[in-house]
Amino acid sequence: MKIMPLEQRGISTSRLILGCMPFGGGWNREPIEQQHILEAERAVDAALSIGISMFDHADIYTMGKAEETFGHLLKARPSLRDQVVIQSKCGIRVAKGQVPGRYDFSKAYILESVNGILQRLGTEYLDILLLHRPDPLMDPNEVAEALGKLKSSGKVRYFGVSNMNSSQVRFLQSALPEAIAVNQLEMSLSKLDFVDQTVHVNQAEGNSVHFGEGLLEHAQLQRIQLQAWGPLAQGAFSGRSLEGESERVVQTAALVTRLAEAKNTTPEAIVLGWLMRHPAMIQPVLGSSNPKRIIACRDAERVSVNLTRDEWYSLYVSSRGHALP
Ligand SMILES: NC(=O)c1ccc[n+]([C@@H]2O[C@H](COP(=O)([O-])OP(=O)(O)OC[C@H]3O[C@@H](n4cnc5c(N)ncnc54)[C@H](OP(=O)(O)O)[C@@H]3O)[C@@H](O)[C@H]2O)c1
Repeated sequence: MKIMPLEQRGISTSRLILGCMPFGGGWNREPIEQQHILEAERAVDAALSIGISMFDHADIYTMGKAEETFGHLLKARPSLRDQVVIQSKCGIRVAKGQVPGRYDFSKAYILESVNGILQRLGTEYLDILLLHRPDPLMDPNEVAEALGKLKSSGKVRYFGVSNMNSSQVRFLQSALPEAIAVNQLEMSLSKLDFVDQTVHVNQAEGNSVHFGEGLLEHAQLQRIQLQAWGPLAQGAFSGRSLEGESERVVQTAALVTRLAEAKNTTPEAIVLGWLMRHPAMIQPVLGSSNPKRIIACRDAERVSVNLTRDEWYSLYVSSRGHALP
């Protein structure tokens, strides 16, 4: 059986990840309420109940409150820390006064960000740190100094990136002593660029594809774990209101429902299973905080193993809305 790139690096974890972006209330500086902690606890318990042991954060989610909320859960249940893999991200700075929102891979900012993340989560180490979005001013040697310091101090075990193409990954990797372990990007049955990129080589239609050329192949060759954000397509094919949606989305949602019925599972499992059927062994980062919806994802891996080629292509072609070349 094929194993995930993360497992090949010795990180034992679940195929599904729970994204913690909704935790902690709104994106504001208002204090966390008990209700937010209870909601996060229910979501985490639902995830644990279906075997999810990996949790995705970023320092900016709800302005730090997502991590702080998770920190409350860890404090209440200290034994949880060793049972889960915690990943967070840094490198995005929110707008402040006259300075716009921006990216910052400077050594000082990376080190300061990780201190903040650890403090909010109330943990001594992060399993994985991702650099959130490519900083045009990044200097790989400077990033290497920061990551080296985080590694040697035991604050971070593994490193990765997010929203980077393979050239950017290679550029950064050239200075890093350790292999980049993760790249997290938007991929789903509605965000099809990752597949379209493979299909439209040497074609004008490929000009409108928004996904790094060779990214999937490079990741597989280098054993980089690809993670998909937005994997449920925000519910577009699994029960969200279809009012005002295109015929393409309506037809694809109907196909997802038919397949779910035929396989005795949920639409969520079909949508995720389609993504996980790709040989890159993609890890979906679920964005739901609704316990029922999280549990509805339980069968995703089983579906991915049993989804036929015909079924996979039927879903892909239906969602792209026109025939393959
Ligand atoms: N690296 C990056 O740049 C980046 C960017 C964005 C996100 N992320 C990560 O990826 C995670 C997931 O992203 P995402 O939230 O875009 O992904 P998603 O899993 O595709 O969407 C989840 C959202 O869709 C809603 N939803 C799902 N099914 C629904 C249905 N049937 N009816 C109504 N609403 C439905 C959920 O609401 P409920 O909560 O009500 O289920 C939730 O708001 C985030 O938590 C974060 O960890 C990373």
